[in-house]
Amino acid sequence: MDAKKDIAPQTEKDQREIVLEVKNLYKSFGENKVLNGFNMTLYKGENLVVMGKSGSGKSVMIKCLVGLIQPDKGYISVMGKEIKLLERESLDALRSDIGFLFQGSALYDSMTVRENLEFPMRRHKKKLGNVTDTEPWVLEALENVGLAHTLDLMPAELSGGMQRRVALARTLILKPKIILYDEPTSGLDPITSKEIIELMRNIQKKYDTSSLIITHDMDCARVISERMVLLVNGTNYAQGTYNELVQSKDPKVEAFFKK
Ligand SMILES: Nc1ncnc2c1ncn2[C@@H]1O[C@H](COP(=O)(O)OP(=O)(O)OP(=O)(O)O)[C@@H](O)[C@H]1O
Ligand SMILES: [Mg+2]
Repeated sequence: MDAKKDIAPQTEKDQREIVLEVKNLYKSFGENKVLNGFNMTLYKGENLVVMGKSGSGKSVMIKCLVGLIQPDKGYISVMGKEIKLLERESLDALRSDIGFLFQGSALYDSMTVRENLEFPMRRHKKKLGNVTDTEPWVLEALENVGLAHTLDLMPAELSGGMQRRVALARTLILKPKIILYDEPTSGLDPITSKEIIELMRNIQKKYDTSSLIITHDMDCARVISERMVLLVNGTNYAQGTYNELVQSKDPKVEAFFKK
């Protein structure tokens, strides 16, 4: 076995419940081999950070997890269910337990904040049962991100940081068990980034979620990660805690930590 790739054998944590597992994932677009045997395990209640340079396949990987992109090969299970075996209806039900914060917020520009938050509620009616009044739900989610006063504003009336928080509120409204964050702090100034990271930590405590966080932002990774996976050449090149990885002498790992 190649020792450098196994910087942190997770013997103790292996006892924890696995909520998401990826084995040997492959995905190419024509000649472009993006994922080339990628492996990853997310344990219940943990914050796992995946880092990789721009274009390395992080967003492709996260989209495979929720069935938005079909991988060419490999095994993905979420909360014990293998994604590729699920019928549309079961996949939809599973998706309602997975919050996905898209890269760049992706709010609907023509809808108010309230309507943006109501959208997943309408889509996943089954999970919520008979909700006649959506307002308490919308307000609770907005209060969690400190933006209850923006209820009837349009996304264009919000700053970039506020839009990101509204997107986070929209992700939270279905009370997901797993949250997938694709670059939650990109494009934000350092102070706003810190606020978003703090919010993510508070949300995890409050809802006991497991989080997969994709980021370029080493400060974000240092603060939030319990474990990290470095995506290089389509593989999980190295994994371990921040402190373990920062001490690595492997040039490809060191490259991540150079300012
Ligand atoms: N739908 C698609 N069709 C063809 N190629 C795609 C598609 N989606 C992604 N790619 C390619 O896959 C590669 C990985 O893209 P991806 O968006 O996953 O990168 P990333 O690691 O998320 O980068 P960034 O940090 O810039 O967000 C890129 O070369 C991209 O061009
Ligand atoms: Mg991306």
